[in-house]
Amino acid sequence: MGRVVLDEVEILTVATHPGHRRAGLARRRVAALLDKARNMGATTAFLEVAADNGAARALYRDLGFDETGRRRSYYARETGKVDAITMSLRLT
Ligand SMILES: CC(C)(COP(=O)(O)OP(=O)(O)OC[C@H]1O[C@@H](n2cnc3c(N)ncnc32)[C@H](O)[C@@H]1OP(=O)(O)O)[C@@H](O)C(=O)NCCC(=O)NCCS
Repeated sequence: MGRVVLDEVEILTVATHPGHRRAGLARRRVAALLDKARNMGATTAFLEVAADNGAARALYRDLGFDETGRRRSYYARETGKVDAITMSLRLT
């Protein structure tokens, strides 16, 4: 799920059923969303991801996203707080 506002698209969430992971489904869905956003006039994509979510961070790196910032202690976990990593990708 994502949303386009003017020249920006934000990736809000992506999830693949546990029984179907590592088959390229999320990569294809996010790439299709970015293509659609580009066609709607978006030039930059943004997202934020929990620092302890290795799978999602690897997915976004795989799609070309770069890390641009960090929100300290953003997500609550039973074991404590986790940073949010902000990432972006130029679409042009
Ligand atoms: C993150 C998530 C959406 C990935 O979905 P997926 O369909 O399995 O991802 P893909 O198969 O398209 O993976 C594409 C690439 O991302 C990276 N990747 C995905 N899962 C990974 C993992 N568990 N470990 C390391 N790299 C991973 C790899 O580079 C992978 O390419 P490869 O398989 O050729 O090595 C899935 O693990 C998920 O639903 N997690 C729970 C929800 C979540 O955390 N969503 C993201 C935050 S909103």
